[in-house]
Amino acid sequence: MVKDGVHARVPVYVKEDMILMKPITTKDNSITFHNPEYDEYYHSLSGAMEEAVKKYAEPCRIAQLARKGSITILDVCFGLGYNSAAAIDAALEANPQCRVRILALENDQEILNKARDIDAGFKNYSLIRKIAEMHNARQGSVEIELFLGDAIIKIKDVNEKVDAVFLDPFSPKRCPELWTEEFFRDIHKVMREGAILATYSCARSVRENLKKAGFEVMDGPFVGRNAPSTLAVKR
Ligand SMILES: C[S@@+](CC[C@H](N)C(=O)[O-])C[C@H]1O[C@@H](n2cnc3c(N)ncnc32)[C@H](O)[C@@H]1O
Repeated sequence: MVKDGVHARVPVYVKEDMILMKPITTKDNSITFHNPEYDEYYHSLSGAMEEAVKKYAEPCRIAQLARKGSITILDVCFGLGYNSAAAIDAALEANPQCRVRILALENDQEILNKARDIDAGFKNYSLIRKIAEMHNARQGSVEIELFLGDAIIKIKDVNEKVDAVFLDPFSPKRCPELWTEEFFRDIHKVMREGAILATYSCARSVRENLKKAGFEVMDGPFVGRNAPSTLAVKR
């Protein structure tokens, strides 16, 4: 099964990879893994890197924000850190002096460890590898702080305002606890006015909960499938 009910043709060899958590190559040649507990992939099989750039970094306007000199991002469900890596690349390309601060929520050290084994195509992926080990890391003007544990609890420890949010849990069907109105309210609280939350899901229940939590909700880009992602803006 692929995230958000989007099915892709999966080659037979994937079966063994699914059990052993071996790397799987997606259509843009970037690597993902399959999580046996949720029976879902960490990224879209249409392109893991493409997803990070086009569903998260671009719609959250990371490059534009970086030109102002400083940006803070909340990465909910950090996983292999692709969304953060895409954001760091976009920010530094737009403004090499930009101060980038990322607050990352993730509860599984095992997937963090996988970041050390792969050669992801992001320019600044070395910082993600450091995070997998140290949970707090700095490289030049970029700093990542990882909150290891249940995102529902850890979001309450975030006590600074963010300019953008990447919301990337497993699907609403498999991981409903991370798509609730209550959790979205906690995310809403830490966002600056005008900040954008991006997520791959366009499920009606997700959009309803975002609206109830106070967000203005709109279609995000269509990437790798015939359905849009979702953008939610704090007004
Ligand atoms: C779809 S993957 C995220 C992929 C990730 N954004 C990336 O770029 O690699 C979902 C992630 O949510 C994490 N997760 C699941 N339940 C969680 C929870 N309650 N709190 C924090 N993280 C959770 C999983 O370990 C997994 O890494």
